[in-house]
Amino acid sequence: MAKNARIIGTGRSYPEGILTNADLERMVETSDEWITQRVGIKQRHKAAEGEYTSQFAVAASRQAIERAKIDPAEIDLVICATVTPDQILPSTGCLIQTELGAHKAAAFDVVAACSGFLYGLTLANQMIRGGQSRYALVIGAEILTRYVDYTDRSTCVIFGDGAGAAVLAADDDAERGILATRIRSDGRYAEQLFAPGGGTRLGHSAESLAAGDYYFKMRGNELFKVAVRSMAEVSREVLEEAGCRAEDVKLFIPHQANQRITDSVADKLKVDPSIVYSNIAYHGNTSSASIPIALDECIEAGRVAEGDLVLLASFGGGVTWGGVLLRW
Ligand code: UT7
Repeated sequence: MAKNARIIGTGRSYPEGILTNADLERMVETSDEWITQRVGIKQRHKAAEGEYTSQFAVAASRQAIERAKIDPAEIDLVICATVTPDQILPSTGCLIQTELGAHKAAAFDVVAACSGFLYGLTLANQMIRGGQSRYALVIGAEILTRYVDYTDRSTCVIFGDGAGAAVLAADDDAERGILATRIRSDGRYAEQLFAPGGGTRLGHSAESLAAGDYYFKMRGNELFKVAVRSMAEVSREVLEEAGCRAEDVKLFIPHQANQRITDSVADKLKVDPSIVYSNIAYHGNTSSASIPIALDECIEAGRVAEGDLVLLASFGGGVTWGGVLLRW
């Protein structure tokens, strides 16, 4: 009989460094008022020079593994969602695997920007249901601030750093765990959020570096509309697939990109605002890490109880989007 994939432990970690709106006011033509009203962010974590993505991924994973009460050697799958890996080769997943001592696992990275964690959950769910994995570790980890142009006010106020992780286990209980998943992408919108430099196309020349090709470039306004539409649509799809209604959801965690996006999606889904989680004010947008960080905070705060229906939805560069519905 196929087993369900259930989250049995979560963790989070972020750099100690904090960049406040007041700091940004001193760097670019912006204001605390604009950032608060248009995006909902007050501060974001920022890695110091010398800090790298897998450090936070490992710390978040250790916490998740400890709470899952398993031995790292039992993990047979490590998926790291990131667009800001430690290095080109090997995958950050392999580096994390080694640090954790999860030597029996298959480890790899998923590049799906802010939807990466839900892509990872979807893959882990299928591996568990297919009987190929018993304990899977899924991580979202980013140091986005390394790729932010701190002269571009339309992007530099948004992004922050951090990592979140979840351990999934194969479970016989058909009522609990992941009920439905849906991941999608549409590369026709690739230029809504992209970083063209650093790859084989533009190379690693001094010219490319000087031109700022490595920095994130974003058409925020266009992305905003796609985000609201796609997150609402994918949420409805996973609810329908599981035979559930939006009003049954006890906790809704959307990707933390912009408070106005969160509010618009919640409004479209007609869910009670009190079940919608937001931490954007103090983390900013941490891309693939945003949902696992939020989930871990919710668990710690007692916002999710056994039997609760939990809805996760994301969108990001690619563009990519996804939805996961779980019975806690
Ligand atoms: O995880 C996926 C990542 N991407 C996103 O989630 C992005 C989604 N989009 C957004 O969150 C919003 O589009 C932004 C926050 C990026 C921008 O907010 P907006 O309300 O869409 O602003 P806008 O781009 O339409 O710009 C409005 C004005 C412009 O000035 P003018 O041309 O009207 O004079 C901008 O230059 O706001 C200006 N502006 C700023 N002003 C102060 C843009 N950024 C800033 C800033 N401070 N940081």
